[in-house]
Amino acid sequence: MLRIDRHLTADDLAKALRRDVWDGLTSAPKTLPPKWFYDERGSALFEEITRLREYYPTRAERAVLAARAAEIAAVTGADTLVELGSGSGEKTRLLLDALRGAGTLRRFVPVDVSGDFLEEAAAKVARDHPDMAVHAVVADFERHLHLLPTGGRRLVAMLGSTIGNQTPAQRGSFLRDLRTALGAGDSLLLGLDLVKDPGRLLAAYDDARGVTAEFNRNVLRVINRELGADFRVGAYTHAAVWNAEAEWIEMRLRAVEEQRVRIAGLDLTVGFARGEELRTEISAKFRPEAIGTELAGAGFALVRSWTDPAGDFTVVVAEPG
Ligand code: AVJ
Repeated sequence: MLRIDRHLTADDLAKALRRDVWDGLTSAPKTLPPKWFYDERGSALFEEITRLREYYPTRAERAVLAARAAEIAAVTGADTLVELGSGSGEKTRLLLDALRGAGTLRRFVPVDVSGDFLEEAAAKVARDHPDMAVHAVVADFERHLHLLPTGGRRLVAMLGSTIGNQTPAQRGSFLRDLRTALGAGDSLLLGLDLVKDPGRLLAAYDDARGVTAEFNRNVLRVINRELGADFRVGAYTHAAVWNAEAEWIEMRLRAVEEQRVRIAGLDLTVGFARGEELRTEISAKFRPEAIGTELAGAGFALVRSWTDPAGDFTVVVAEPG
């Protein structure tokens, strides 16, 4: 059984891109939000990143979920899995299989901004689980949490350390919105990458084969195509920086020489000085001892947490507190 709710149209997305590019390229320093990496090519590059030797988070999270999915099913007793930013499918399957094993699974709610991607992924899950309702929601989970399907015991999962793309202030308001959208019996599942040796963090975001660099530059291709811009993609080099105060990785694109970029679709021209950097992503890293406090600040109580054997990545379950 497959149902799709659309709360975002292609036109909404186009408007959001225009606004983000205008705001980001006219501010100092220049920034762009990471959500625009993920067109078809960007999504394929991200999949390639998850298989890189240097990029440990996907493997570490998968190891935790493989070992603990049954416990997650037991502590939550969930009948509905809501997946925010529905990902690879593999981690989803681990959770769905565990909830099915516990005998509680009734419904799967994948949520994503990309309707095409979601439709395909949801149809596949529906085929594989004919007795489960699949209720896909095309929405921006940073804005549309109040539109999530209600009822039952929902487990809302945000995996892959996706929440690390937000600043602490954005995270705070996102978690409070999520808390408002949830009720008694619901729970939250977060995958969070942990603070570790900066050398390993930097390698994970600046791999030897240059896949991450290509992923980073892909945002310029997206803007060229969608907004008729003329970024010379090859004129920007990839940089990964560990911000030790904020405890996040920043990805930047650095103009190797002075650039003048015309963004026809915005009727905007922007200049880059030689060496000027554009920040394209932050990826916050977490400290285990601070997670409970941060969740409590948003009205959640930490229920359980697990880490992989190396202590690289944690998966936590929380409930409305
Ligand atoms: C999918 C946002 C969690 O921050 O590690 C991977 C994206 N960026 N390599 C991350 C990403 C560069 C990833 N998230």
